[in-house]
Amino acid sequence: MQTISLLAQKGGSGKTTLAECLAVAADKAGKPSVILDMDPQGTAKSWKARRGSDDPAVIPVTMANLQDELDRIRAAGAAYAFIDTPARLSDWAMEAAKVSDVVIVPSRATVKDLERVEASIKLATVYGIRPVFVVLTQVRPRGDRDAQAEAFIKARHFPLCPARIGDRVAYQDSDTLGLTPIETEPGGKAAQEIKQVYQYTVKVLNQLTIEPLNHDKKDEPYSRAFQQAG
Ligand SMILES: Nc1ncnc2c1ncn2[C@@H]1O[C@H](COP(=O)(O)OP(=O)(O)OP(=O)(O)O)[C@@H](O)[C@H]1O
Ligand SMILES: [Mg+2]
Repeated sequence: MQTISLLAQKGGSGKTTLAECLAVAADKAGKPSVILDMDPQGTAKSWKARRGSDDPAVIPVTMANLQDELDRIRAAGAAYAFIDTPARLSDWAMEAAKVSDVVIVPSRATVKDLERVEASIKLATVYGIRPVFVVLTQVRPRGDRDAQAEAFIKARHFPLCPARIGDRVAYQDSDTLGLTPIETEPGGKAAQEIKQVYQYTVKVLNQLTIEPLNHDKKDEPYSRAFQQAG
């Protein structure tokens, strides 16, 4: 099993939505997945309550039982665990990053969000280097904000997922039903971009399998982890 955390210091950046979408994409690709809901707000848990019994499972966790739940779902045969972290509880987010193979930092293409990206990446690498990449989310179809955001991220040498998540009502409409755009509009643009982010995540995870990282090397600069995430 491989573990992926969704981590961003900025509230509303799309952590929970992306965790749900990626878990559903993985399930549809034949990789049984579980969402570990580490946010006391329980946003993913509420989504699951609207969803009913369909996979993926959503399990509320705390710092205290995170490792036990990971062990339990690994033993149960899960392929991926997606950890949805809270924006404000940085020690919880660090704990999630510590047990993750990859950390995804979703960010809207606004200056306030982008300015928090570095802080999120630093949190993700406090306990040792690991691959981290940024996904631009809620990107508006008009204007050049996404290009500006991409330039901002690239200028700082943060690894960036080549696919972006658009600002689309499909995300909000499907959320109302406890679903994701992959299920409600399988041929739509949202479903397509989710699959692209999922495929990029799998690509990064596969690189790790070929060339495992030494998670104990605490002193390595996080830029090294970025290069590995490439
Ligand atoms: N790509 C998108 N397009 C349109 N709306 C979106 C998109 N992604 C998320 N949203 C909406 O933005 C809001 C915040 O999204 P979400 O809950 O996923 O963010 P979050 O980072 O988990 O927030 P928090 O920090 O509160 O946990 C929600 O109402 C969600 O429906
Ligand atoms: Mg959330």
